[in-house]
Amino acid sequence: YPLASLNTFRIPARARHYLRVSNAAELDAVRGNPALSGLPRLVLGGGSNMLFTRDFDGIVLHMTGLGKEVLGEQDGKLLVRAQAGENWHAFVQWTLAQGFGGLENLSLIPGTVGAAPIQNVGAYGTETRDTFHSLTAYDLASGETRTLDAAACRFGYRDSIFKHAQGSTLVVLDVTFALPLDWTPNLRYAELANAVEAAGLTSPTPREIGQTVEAIRRRKLPDPAEIGNAGSFFKNPVVSGEQCAQLLAQYPALVHHAQPDGSEKLAAGWLIDQCGWKGKALGAAGVYPKQALVLVNLGDATGQDVVRLARAIQADVAARYGVALEPEPVFI
Ligand code: EPU
Repeated sequence: YPLASLNTFRIPARARHYLRVSNAAELDAVRGNPALSGLPRLVLGGGSNMLFTRDFDGIVLHMTGLGKEVLGEQDGKLLVRAQAGENWHAFVQWTLAQGFGGLENLSLIPGTVGAAPIQNVGAYGTETRDTFHSLTAYDLASGETRTLDAAACRFGYRDSIFKHAQGSTLVVLDVTFALPLDWTPNLRYAELANAVEAAGLTSPTPREIGQTVEAIRRRKLPDPAEIGNAGSFFKNPVVSGEQCAQLLAQYPALVHHAQPDGSEKLAAGWLIDQCGWKGKALGAAGVYPKQALVLVNLGDATGQDVVRLARAIQADVAARYGVALEPEPVFI
C-alpha cells in the first residue's frame, strides 16, 4: 500500500497492509483477527511527525475517526472533545470561531488531534499539556478502552508515555481539552508578542492571536502541501548551565533559554544555521532556507537521503559545539 500521500515528508514508502480505523470496535476486530494481530503495527494520524526510512512490513492503522463536540463547563473550564482523526488546525479553528481561547498559539500545526498528545505538540509558549484534560485510548495488548488524565500521559518536551514502551500498545481514540473561560493571551514567546504589537492589537481576541501565529508560521515554515517536511527535524537540545556558560564565552550570540531546573535549552536552528547548513542540500534532501531546523524533501528524496543529511548536520554541530542533536520525528 503506497504511503507517499500519507506522510507529510512525502517519502515514497509502502506498507504490507493498511486499514482505516475510527473506533474501538474496529481495533477489537484487528486484535481478534489472527492474520492481523501478530503483525508489526504502525498507528498513523496525519503522518506529519514521522520519517519512513524503509518500507513497513506490517499493518498501518490509519486513525480516521471524525467528530467534535462541546461537553460543557467544569471548574471554570470549557471541555471540548474531538475524535483522533480530526485535523488539528481545523479543530483549533473550530474552537476559535466560537470564541473559545486556549489553543490559538497552536494554530496551523500539521497533523491530527489524536497525534497532538503523543509528542505533546507545542509552539509559541504553549504545549498540548497546558489545555489537555484527558483522552480515551484503546489498549491493543488487553483489548480494554481506558481514560488517561494528564498525569497518566507523562508529558514532557515533545514527549509522552505513548512514545515509550509502557504506552506503545495504546491507540488514542479521542482527546478532551479544558479551555479557560477566563482567557488571557499567552504572549511569553517574544516573536509572537512583537507580531501582536506590530499588528496594533492592544486587546487581541483568541482568534486574532491565532491569525498572528498563522502569519508567523507561513513566513518561516514550509507548507507540507507544497514542500515535503515534518516540521522541526531536531529537538532543541538541553544542556547544563555550566556547559551553556562555556559556550557563551566562546559564542556570545548563542541563543539559549534558562529552564526552571537551571539547565539551558539551546536553539537547534541557530546551531545548524551557524554551521552553514541553511539552504544547503545533500542529494534530494535539503535544509529549509528560512528555518534551518526544518529538513525538506526537494522532490524525490528517500528516507535514507534525509537520514544522510541529518547525520551530516549532527556531526557538524557536535564537532563545533559539543552538543548532540536528537531527531524530533519518529523514524520508521
Ligand atoms: N534561528 C536561527 N536560524 C534558523 C532558525 C532559528 O538563528 O535558521 C534562531 C532564531 O532566530 C531564534 C531561535 O533560533 O532565536 C529559535 O527559533 P524559532 O523561534 O523559529 O523556534 P525553534 O526553537 O526553532 C520551536 C519549535 C517549533 C515551534 C517554534 C515556535 C522545537 C523542536 N521546535 O522552534 O515547533 O513552532 O519553536 O514555538 O521545539 C515542531 O516541533 O515541528 C515545530 C515547528
